[in-house]
Amino acid sequence: MTNQELVAPMTTLRDGRTVTIRPLEESDRAALLDFGMALPEDDWLYLELDFHDPNTITRLVNAYAAMNWRQVVAVADGAIVGYSNVRRLPGWKSHAGDSHLVIGEGWRRQGLGTALAETILAAARDLGLEKVIAEMVEEQTAGRAIFERLGFQIEGTLAGQVHDHGDGCHNLLILGYRLRP
Ligand SMILES: CC(C)(COP(=O)(O)OP(=O)(O)OC[C@H]1O[C@@H](n2cnc3c(N)ncnc32)[C@H](O)[C@@H]1OP(=O)(O)O)[C@@H](O)C(=O)NCCC(=O)NCCS
Repeated sequence: MTNQELVAPMTTLRDGRTVTIRPLEESDRAALLDFGMALPEDDWLYLELDFHDPNTITRLVNAYAAMNWRQVVAVADGAIVGYSNVRRLPGWKSHAGDSHLVIGEGWRRQGLGTALAETILAAARDLGLEKVIAEMVEEQTAGRAIFERLGFQIEGTLAGQVHDHGDGCHNLLILGYRLRP
């Protein structure tokens, strides 16, 4: 499967709205920045990827075709409303990948997070990974709920591991999903 093959046909959400799920493209920089800037304050505080930072957006978009990354967006009327990625980790962790998932505030609880999380698992299989992890601060209860529902399990907690983009310090949860033994 190539990055291009992660394209899904139009997906209908619980409330009847439709989105297109497709790989991130080189031309998505402005749309991804708009998406990031519109995320709620809590996401900005707690997400590892700082979607408010144009340098982060440039780094993601520049990696649109990177061999060990898969990045997928959900698009509605030309706007990005959801983002997910999985990346093969380097060195002795190279059998594993880490993942990120974020849905625009007005698009949550409609099944879109689940649809994009499924692309993470498909992409991880495509990359030949044995395992995927998702890291999140303890306060991200929605993130924990969706990944646990998909079968991820908490594998560890690192106390005080995260300094958020404000001034807070948080425990980091590491959730893992094994694709093969
Ligand atoms: C976590 C997140 C991706 C969920 O996206 P979503 O589109 O709302 O997810 P879905 O609609 O597919 O929800 C799937 C299930 O997850 C659980 N869930 C999602 N949001 C929840 C919440 N706020 N509280 C409790 N459970 C929640 C529910 O079991 C839900 O199923 P249900 O709606 O049938 O009850 C979204 O809230 C988000 O982007 N949060 C900020 C970023 C983040 O925490 N990312 C995860 C760490 S990388």
